[in-house]
Amino acid sequence: MNEQELLLQLNEKFNNPSLTFGFWKDSRLPTAYIANRFCRGAVTLYGAHILSYIPDGQKDVLMVSEKSLFEPPKGIRGGIPVCWPWFGSNPAPSHGVARIQFWELKNAVSLPDGSDTLTFELTVTEPHELTVSLEVNFGAALTVAVTTVNNGKTSFLLGEAIHTYFSVGEITETKIRGLGGATLDNRLNNQISTAPDVFGFQAETDNVYHSEATVTIEDPVLKRKIKVEKQFSRDTVVWNPWIDKSKRMADFGDEEYHGMVCVEAANCFDNRVDLAPGAKHTLIQKISASAF
Ligand code: BG6
Repeated sequence: MNEQELLLQLNEKFNNPSLTFGFWKDSRLPTAYIANRFCRGAVTLYGAHILSYIPDGQKDVLMVSEKSLFEPPKGIRGGIPVCWPWFGSNPAPSHGVARIQFWELKNAVSLPDGSDTLTFELTVTEPHELTVSLEVNFGAALTVAVTTVNNGKTSFLLGEAIHTYFSVGEITETKIRGLGGATLDNRLNNQISTAPDVFGFQAETDNVYHSEATVTIEDPVLKRKIKVEKQFSRDTVVWNPWIDKSKRMADFGDEEYHGMVCVEAANCFDNRVDLAPGAKHTLIQKISASAF
């Protein structure tokens, strides 16, 4: 089946007034577009990658790079990549295989409150026998749940992150609250410290906080506050590539670091999840934006 036939099939199978299928921009990536009383949004089957979440009357909460390729086998730069079943660049491919595979759309339902939930699924045999599903609810909040089942006969150490790129007005004016007191592992210099109550950006940032707390992104330029809640996640990663790394990334504009920050719900490195045969684990991130 080619991509055009897949779109026809999806439109027939998921006949729902708040859902349409098309290609993402001028790519060939099959994408579900949601429009309901709360928001507009988009998620492509490639990576079950959420590309847009626009609550009514607001700007997009998610940032997608103008330089991103939308061509397999490249990952998409921006939106919400799912890092799975490992986190980080070792081994290759960076952040695992899920973001560079086509997932199956299993279900799409409109709920009585007017929100919409889509469920995607992917099964792999390498590096282990695993099934992952991503359930996303587009409503007054954006709720993303990533569930892993170990189909294998041995246990598996699962690394994962919901690697959300948030759109901000200006990174140097942006503040992160909620991580005060957490153990902070600075991945750039391997220093461990205790996190301050408020974090502001002055340089490249690649911080892993051992924290389950809710984080707030304060954005005085867009006059917006984004609440990032999570469940079953022992790490929060805060990332901004800043000047030099932005220049080194081919799929990211030199100046785009001004307009984004990643706040990721993760279980990574020492906090990977030990998943017994047959066991299931769910990681959840819930995002809501309000005036600041
Ligand atoms: C972050 C990592 O989660 O993702 C960074 O903490 C990494 O170290 C960044 O640079 C982007 O990764 P990638 O593989 O999408 O370029």
